[in-house]
Amino acid sequence: MQANPASEKSSHISNNRPIVETGQYLTFSLGDELFAVGILVIKEIIQFGQLTTVPMMPSYIRGVINLRGAVVPVIDLYARFGLGTSTVGKRTCIVIIEINNEGETHDIGIMVDAVSAVIDIASDQIEPAPTFGSSVRNDFIEGMGKVNDRFVIILDVVCTFSVSELASLENLQSSEHNNATRNFPKNNPNGENRGKKTQLLSDKTIKLAQESWAKTIPIAAQAANLFYSGLFVRDPSLKALFHGDMVIQGEKLMKMIGFAVSKLNDLDSLIPELHGLGRRHATYGVQASHYETVGAAFLDTLKQGLGDDFTEPVRDAWVSVYGVLSKVMTEATFSAS
Ligand code: HEM
Repeated sequence: MQANPASEKSSHISNNRPIVETGQYLTFSLGDELFAVGILVIKEIIQFGQLTTVPMMPSYIRGVINLRGAVVPVIDLYARFGLGTSTVGKRTCIVIIEINNEGETHDIGIMVDAVSAVIDIASDQIEPAPTFGSSVRNDFIEGMGKVNDRFVIILDVVCTFSVSELASLENLQSSEHNNATRNFPKNNPNGENRGKKTQLLSDKTIKLAQESWAKTIPIAAQAANLFYSGLFVRDPSLKALFHGDMVIQGEKLMKMIGFAVSKLNDLDSLIPELHGLGRRHATYGVQASHYETVGAAFLDTLKQGLGDDFTEPVRDAWVSVYGVLSKVMTEATFSAS
């Protein structure tokens, strides 16, 4: 379903009356509330379908969809507003919007209970966001539009949807990645991808990960120790999975991550290693959900180990790198079972 592109604001000037602009908005419902988004940012509306979940993402990023080869993250608005999670119903849709954040354009999907209509709201019918009493955070609201004696919450698109985690999804923005991570283990069990180099991470991400990893090498033993202590605080039940000497285990872990980081430019040789590692992990009793906990503990460790060098771009780079490593490892596990 393609949205109506005629979305310019029109102004009506009559004699001495002030200029009143009329904007067009797409309205949609979420529970009992009616929301609106300016139609200029709407690209299309699609039926809710299968989503692919991405590890290490906040709960309001419900997953990603493949939209004609592009990977588009889908935001669960209930979760974004801190109201729980959406339930999928018959009329659940994904509204694809284009947002521009700090010069970069992203397409994102927003999951809504039902799309209502495209309506005109005159600027003199829009009141400022209420300071209290709304179910939605004040800075997410651009204004309250009065429509037939009812208020519609007009969302501030940039505040609501410009989430820093979207930047870390940039590395998923190609169908090549999508095919590689989704089908590679099953279609290419020997790790072969003839004639085509597998490129899942941007050069910038690889450089940031490699440079920051180099800084952890002198403190590898302490980092491993920190990592396992943090992991067992996050989930004490994971301790039971480990049977050997934790110092030796720490060395193996750091060595493996170092190896993986050195091979990020040559994923075709790394992927078979990760498949093997993933399969061995299944035999240790590791479950898919554990990867998220381990990833969070790993980021904590990097943060503590790198201090001021753990900048936002470095964090994003590691979210992407760990996302790829864990995805390849877990998919190998599924293909093995
Ligand atoms: C990117 C993610 C991970 C990497 C790079 C990694 C790396 C390693 C390495 C190199 C070993 C040594 C044994 C081997 O090579 O098979 C190992 C063992 C192990 N890992 Fe991981 N691992 C990862 C994720 C996880 C997760 C999510 C868990 C869940 C708690 C986990 C739990 C274990 C356990 C239980 C062992 C065996 C310990 C033992 O033998 O006592 N690992 N891991």
